[in-house]
Amino acid sequence: MSSRPLEPNPSGEPFTHWMARRCEQVERALEACLPGPAARPERLHEAMRYAALGGGKRVRALLVYAAGELTGAPQSALDAAACAIECIHAYSLVHDDLPCMDNDVLRRGKPTVHVAFGEATAMLVGDALQALAFESLAGTMALGVAAPAVVGMTLRLARAAGSIGMAGGQAIDLEAVGETLPRQELEDMHRRKTGALLTASIELGAACGQAPDAAQARWLGSYAQAIGLAFQVVDDILDVVGDAAALGKTAGKDAEQGKPTYVSVLGLAASRQLADTLMFQARDAVAALGPRARRLGDIAELIVLRQS
Ligand code: IPE
Ligand code: IPE
Ligand code: MG
Ligand code: MG
Ligand code: MG
Repeated sequence: MSSRPLEPNPSGEPFTHWMARRCEQVERALEACLPGPAARPERLHEAMRYAALGGGKRVRALLVYAAGELTGAPQSALDAAACAIECIHAYSLVHDDLPCMDNDVLRRGKPTVHVAFGEATAMLVGDALQALAFESLAGTMALGVAAPAVVGMTLRLARAAGSIGMAGGQAIDLEAVGETLPRQELEDMHRRKTGALLTASIELGAACGQAPDAAQARWLGSYAQAIGLAFQVVDDILDVVGDAAALGKTAGKDAEQGKPTYVSVLGLAASRQLADTLMFQARDAVAALGPRARRLGDIAELIVLRQS
């Protein structure tokens, strides 16, 4: 199995400590996974590092580690899976911010990649981060994950990132500008553009360890459905009530650009209520999964109660 031993269940450790520890862990793993800034072509590698390192809440990586705790996964494999997910996520943000998409100039408190490095480099950063994600995932086989599990993870990540998942959701988002979507279609768009990658984070983390039994898999699925939607509902809310200093990205852009969001369709109060309901659904699933799922419960609260 892995070169590193399983971690004991960190019961008693406050969530904030656990989270800080995991954020440092994925930062180190990303640093090791990304080509160095002196590697040729230097500018592309500098831009990839600018996009992927030193920022973000790392919610997806936290989900990988928390799901891995549930199934007793080795840390080295979880590092590789967390890097894969964070690389896809960072790429999605770089492309989301491009002038042809949301045309944003601020991300994670810094100028967006196309502002800092130019549009062509920003496109290539996305291309290269996506490829690096699959390279990192393929590396889990050398870290003790069985080949069928690696193939399964690859399939899940590919589907979550592609036209039936994140990229498809982004396409629907762009087509929907200036329209009011029916609630069902809005939910479908959110589940694809944001929920799919969050769900994949949980699936990959769990798949690095002992395969969950059927009941566990059902509860994990129910947890993933709840937090996957909640995440984008809260993102829509924060776009209205947050400010750029706290968010590290431009606020108020959804209304300005005529994007259908939960706030534009349901209003602020009903959106908050929905986010709370989804948090309770997530908590029910965590309760059914037992004490080793407690970090998943903490993350559900983080997703719904966050201010940025
Ligand atoms: C922002 O995601 C984009 C969405 C999918 C809503 P995050 O809010 O997780 O962004 P970072 O990683 O913390 O910057
Ligand atoms: C982006 O949704 C979802 C992605 C797949 C990146 P948003 O466009 O609402 O994300 P922000 O608000 O710019 O982070
Ligand atoms: Mg967008
Ligand atoms: Mg955007
Ligand atoms: Mg948004």
